[in-house]
Amino acid sequence: MTLTSDEKLADLDLDQLRQLVGLVEYDAAADPFPVTGWDAVVWAVGNATQTALFYQAVYGMELVAYSGPETGNRDHQAYVLRSGAVRFVLKGGVDPASEVMEHHRRHGDGIVDIALEVPDVDRCVDHARREGATIVEEPHDVTDEHGTVRMAAIATYGETRHTLVDRSRYDGPYLPGFVARSGVTPGPRIFQALDHVVGNVELGRMDQWVDFYNRIMGFTNMAEFVGEDIATEYSALMSKVVASGNHRVKFPLNEPAVGKKRSQIDEYLEFYGGPGAQHLALATNDILRTVDTLRARGVEFLSTPDSYYSDPALRARIGEVRVPIEELASRGILVDRDEDGYLLQIFTKPIGDRPTVFFELIERHGSLGFGAGNFQALFEAIEREQARRGNF
Ligand SMILES: [Fe+2]
Repeated sequence: MTLTSDEKLADLDLDQLRQLVGLVEYDAAADPFPVTGWDAVVWAVGNATQTALFYQAVYGMELVAYSGPETGNRDHQAYVLRSGAVRFVLKGGVDPASEVMEHHRRHGDGIVDIALEVPDVDRCVDHARREGATIVEEPHDVTDEHGTVRMAAIATYGETRHTLVDRSRYDGPYLPGFVARSGVTPGPRIFQALDHVVGNVELGRMDQWVDFYNRIMGFTNMAEFVGEDIATEYSALMSKVVASGNHRVKFPLNEPAVGKKRSQIDEYLEFYGGPGAQHLALATNDILRTVDTLRARGVEFLSTPDSYYSDPALRARIGEVRVPIEELASRGILVDRDEDGYLLQIFTKPIGDRPTVFFELIERHGSLGFGAGNFQALFEAIEREQARRGNF
């Protein structure tokens, strides 16, 4: 088990990562598509200049690199931000004909690329091609004075892609074409690592995408929740989770299921204009402090019904956790427990103008789950918000 270059930069050690994101040992030699970990989450946004400031001022991220007209990129601006081992790349169109602008027009602020760090780009692409993947960028080298990066990209759900990056021979601030850039002096870190990225796919297509990750990317199925497991009286969804061998990269996949009213997945698909990344779970080792800080900076979270905390069945199910339940209740933090341990989690409201992408904050204590026990309480909270927007 080795740390990715980003994790080393973030001063994270393996024990911390096991705790934060549920890392496990596995045999990479037997993996047809070895993935080391996350490389970057690349966004197309309506205004990258302001969004970059938002992630610095509110989410405590650090601006580290930039590309734009001043560096010879006349198409768009791109700001690279870091928090712990997490890297966001925010792109906003400059040229009115930029594809970034087109993406934003179709989808609103959204994730165009979930880039992954791999030790051998060519091996991954060879395997993916044999299994029928769409290769959107063939393997190629990109070089500047900091070294060489080898990259390629394959298509996944909707207009989303996975760029595969081998940066083992590169020590620049991000990729060739980017220059180092600093911004607001960063305060304490709000989150340390990326835990999972959830994809919403079309009705009836979830198993097809699970098969894509199994066959093309060698991911294994982690957990399975089907139909009525995640249903309220009015709406339902189905969800399955695939993970890379070391569990660093985890992709829950959701599809809508038929209910009396529209589910949150239907709402997402309508307003995003098709399948796409729904939420990013940001791992923190102190969710109470994180939530207090974010709330003080204006971030809004989904509310949790009081009945959630007073329910004796919940209290019995979750047992002892590291803080009194009252501390969780006053912040609306959810708890879930399984045979391996427990987790604390909370969800923000959508981060852009469309009711599409949002964040989860998660603090794991042994549990490798995703909060299935909370889905009921959570969905009821989401439905109240949907109803307020007139979309339920
Ligand atoms: Fe999640």
